[in-house]
Amino acid sequence: MKKVIGNIVGRSVLYLALVVGFVSATRAQNDAEKLYKAKCIGCHAADGSANTKAGRNTGAHDLRLPDVQKETDATLIGIVTKGKKKMPKFEEKLKAKEIKELVEYVRGFSNKP
Ligand code: HEC
Repeated sequence: MKKVIGNIVGRSVLYLALVVGFVSATRAQNDAEKLYKAKCIGCHAADGSANTKAGRNTGAHDLRLPDVQKETDATLIGIVTKGKKKMPKFEEKLKAKEIKELVEYVRGFSNKP
């Protein structure tokens, strides 16, 4: 009987861990989406295409293209942190964790060309 209860408790803990993990991953993605919409969309557009007036004026690239997606996370994080040409730097405006999540969010564009 003890063993059965032990199994049930063990399983519940496992399920709980899965649910908590899933919820926090989803939350991180929502936060990144919110940040992207607040800070990046003007130049990069909702779909990453950079098909906006500011995007054309600054010469922002289509973030969905392989040329962008082939860059390492470190490179993309570096560009968002320190800026590059007309890309503003965000090191004073965003936390390192937020920048990392934004780069993960940008990775998602590659699936929707
Ligand atoms: C004022 C317009 C502007 C805003 C706002 C902006 N970007 Fe950019 N971004 C650019 C431009 C222009 C480049 C291309 C820089 C270059 O010439 O290499 C760029 C480059 C990038 C790159 C590197 C990929 C590439 O094009 O080579 C990433 C990743 C990126 N931006 C993400 C972001 C994120 C995330 C945000 C919001 C936190 C953001 N950008 C906000 C204009 C902008």
